[in-house]
Amino acid sequence: MNVLVTRRLPSSVLAKLEAVADVDLYSGETAIPDAELRARAANADAILCLLTDRIDRGVIDAAPRLRIVANVAVGYNNIDVAYARSRGVVVTNTPDVLTESVADFTWSMILAITRRISEGERLVRSGLWKGWSLDQMLGSELRGKQLGLIGVGRIGRAVALRAPAFGMHVVYASRRTIDDLPGAEPTSIDRLLNTSDVVSLHVPLTDDTRHLIDKRALTRMKRSAYLINTSRGPVVDEEALAWALQHHLLAGAALDVYEKEPQIHPDLLPLDNVLLLPHIASATTETRTAMADLAVDNALAVLSGRPPLTPVP
Ligand code: GLV
Repeated sequence: MNVLVTRRLPSSVLAKLEAVADVDLYSGETAIPDAELRARAANADAILCLLTDRIDRGVIDAAPRLRIVANVAVGYNNIDVAYARSRGVVVTNTPDVLTESVADFTWSMILAITRRISEGERLVRSGLWKGWSLDQMLGSELRGKQLGLIGVGRIGRAVALRAPAFGMHVVYASRRTIDDLPGAEPTSIDRLLNTSDVVSLHVPLTDDTRHLIDKRALTRMKRSAYLINTSRGPVVDEEALAWALQHHLLAGAALDVYEKEPQIHPDLLPLDNVLLLPHIASATTETRTAMADLAVDNALAVLSGRPPLTPVP
């Protein structure tokens, strides 16, 4: 069995795979180039890939032996799932194992943007801080405010469950009504945008959610509100967001994901009211190891004729 692994994995996880399969490891510092991915896919029975790898028709067609694409990510918009399925190739992702770390990180972003953590750190490092004053760098409190969640899958729910600790009331917009989120109220996206003090995005990237947060959506938000995005960059129209932030149509935004990673829209870079992070919401040693391990288990299951553990829906 040949397994193409598109980026270095934790050594314990790689060893588990190497014990039973021939591993073709691409160990570059950045994503495997498309042409190399296609060339190396030719012999692969399984591909273990990252969200930075586009597994499109070309790659799938270049891999006649391919039985499984195991994505080391919960999101799988980088894979042409319908085409893979039509070719009998199983696609898996890594749900559950990253839920808690992403929810914790979402809250760290909420706290960081509302309390101006990154801006304060920049001030101290610049050497321009003149000392304590009563009205310096005032932020905004969370207690008594409303958190609006767009999307309440596993991660959105885990974010909601942490809200009472900060005294926030939760509303959510979702296609489904959720029974097991006590105290959280369903609402429409428009109403959520109109009334929430913090809006956090937890939807997958699909044709329906691309630019869900566009100029129109941003102009519906309260001027005192904050937008948090840990989902996928293209859910937000970055140009519209930069415009809204420049015109103070909202108080701030915290982004961990971007439309064209690793590029950041140039209009966002000079703004103080935006927190810019390098797609690290699930980046703890424990979680990233568990994600890689789950992807390996999915590949090994399919290659040995068993059902995958976490096929994409
Ligand atoms: C990270 O963005 C993931 O989808 O796991």
